[in-house]
Amino acid sequence: MCGIVGYTGPRQAYPIIIKGLKRLEYRGYDSTGVALHNGSGLKVFKKKGKVAELEEAIVGKDLNANVGIGHTRWATHGEPSDRNAHPHQSASGKLAMIHNGIIENYNQLKQELTNKGYSFTSDTDTEVLLNFIEEIKKNNNCSLEEAVRVALKRVTGAYVILLLDADNPDTIIAARKGSPLVIGVGKGEHFLGSDASPMLEYTKEVVYVNDYELAIVRPDELILKNLGNEKLTPYVQKLDIELAAIEKGGYDHFMLKEIFEQPRTIHDCLRGRLDATAGTITMSGIQQYAEQIVQTNRIVMIACGTSWHAGLVAEYIFEELTRINVEVEYASEFRYRNPVINKGDVIIAISQSGETADTLVAIEKAKENGAIILGVVNVVGSSIARVSHGGAYTHAGPEIGVASTKAFTAQLAVLTMIALKIGYIKGTIEQTRYNNLLKELEEIPEKVAWTLQHSEHIKALAEKYKDARDFLYLGRGYNFPVALEGALKLKEISYIHAEGYPAAEMKHGPIALVDDQLPVVFVATKDTYHEKVVSNMQEIKARKGRVIAVITEGDEHSASLCEDVMIVPEADEILAPMLSVIPLQLLAYYIGVAKGLDVDKPRNLAKSVTVE
Ligand code: AGP
Repeated sequence: MCGIVGYTGPRQAYPIIIKGLKRLEYRGYDSTGVALHNGSGLKVFKKKGKVAELEEAIVGKDLNANVGIGHTRWATHGEPSDRNAHPHQSASGKLAMIHNGIIENYNQLKQELTNKGYSFTSDTDTEVLLNFIEEIKKNNNCSLEEAVRVALKRVTGAYVILLLDADNPDTIIAARKGSPLVIGVGKGEHFLGSDASPMLEYTKEVVYVNDYELAIVRPDELILKNLGNEKLTPYVQKLDIELAAIEKGGYDHFMLKEIFEQPRTIHDCLRGRLDATAGTITMSGIQQYAEQIVQTNRIVMIACGTSWHAGLVAEYIFEELTRINVEVEYASEFRYRNPVINKGDVIIAISQSGETADTLVAIEKAKENGAIILGVVNVVGSSIARVSHGGAYTHAGPEIGVASTKAFTAQLAVLTMIALKIGYIKGTIEQTRYNNLLKELEEIPEKVAWTLQHSEHIKALAEKYKDARDFLYLGRGYNFPVALEGALKLKEISYIHAEGYPAAEMKHGPIALVDDQLPVVFVATKDTYHEKVVSNMQEIKARKGRVIAVITEGDEHSASLCEDVMIVPEADEILAPMLSVIPLQLLAYYIGVAKGLDVDKPRNLAKSVTVE
């Protein structure tokens, strides 16, 4: 996700754009830039870093202009840097463009342009598209609007683009497919944005641009067309939403927004990589190390917190699918021990932020000892990503809530794809199981969406159990790490003490805690451990414990043992954690809200622990 802003009208454009970008930083903030047209030519200012850093860097520059576009980036292609920041300028320097989305066939377009003598100053797909548009304008001797229309018919992927043209000072050309674009309609002026937050203080009259539509925007004119060049009547709506709500997408908190984003973020994580029909998993950052991974005797997952829980799930998955010995280490323990690291060991560093100090130091230590480092990271170009030899990004977009939710399920999706890919190469997965798992993995986003439809029921459970003093979370196998994750979510959001435990371990002591006040949450989806977990549920029930369970849809027997249940769809046990964690995220969130706590910024916590 990136944030885009545009303005054309009688006011100074720069102040409107820079303030609008600050409001959109929740969409991404690793680099930022503006392009202004003051009637005599285009000026572009851009740099790595947050909006405030750009603002400070260009104090004193001539920012006088009535037309401009601005961008705050969340890198997907090309790491955060000055040269990869938007806006990009075309080879001629006469066009400037910002873009939110991913051009999936940019490599092919880049090759065509390179063959025609084009060179590129950045690693981005955006610069390729911009020069593709300019090449068409030049070759066909047509208008910029026509060149955009022709170019977008060749493009696959998602985009919102805003273009400035040196030869048309007051005009902004915009187009969208798959990423959001709102146009604010003022008196003799127009505003553009990824959402309405940059324009709300100036106008509440907006036009939501639809997929495959193109807009030609001037101070007193808004022309809307489809890619077939047919004029459309803009549908102007009056907004009645407040600014704060827009940034959260209409949700009360970023955490809830991010929980509900998971069908899309898991889809984004799989997109361009998993092809169940073809039976392929394409991950270039893994492919280049596939031979070493196949041959290694040992994989060590290194992480902290929720990411460590993802590593625990991955341990079960990798050992099942690749038959490679896997260990999972807390980064903070690993880095201070004198661990045995052999040349050829494979380290998988898991981190949402890519900046967790303990994880970073731990992998640097392993790297010095000859290990291969693969990063499973969300923030493109982050420290852990840069230290790693290879790996795969989780593409979950910015995670603003301190409690990690969508990043966790994206980590599981990436780790599952890596294990499937390696197991297939090694021949340790039977072909039918491989094909079935790819097909089921492709269906996970809609199963997550199905699970989220039951959020109101979980909200009611939160109200019922919010005053409990302690919780136990129990699970076995693939669901044991999910029990740990559920307990961590509750602790960090509601400040209630909760403990995750292997269900079978209860009889070795902790069952002494059980009484009629203690809610015990079982993660008990249908899998090879299910029968044993049901026995554990009966042990707790026999001691008057309050049994709550995440169970598979239709599992009436387990439901009969529980005081309350949370339902998830049937799924292969390897994929089930991406579903069984969802009700636990919601339970923690709604209990935190019911207790009136700041669920986006819990006390004592930071989003990224960059200190040791
Ligand atoms: C999870 O909800 C917490 N915010 C925390 O445990 C987090 O997972 C941990 O600090 C690791 O962060 P990272 O994934 O950015 O490395």
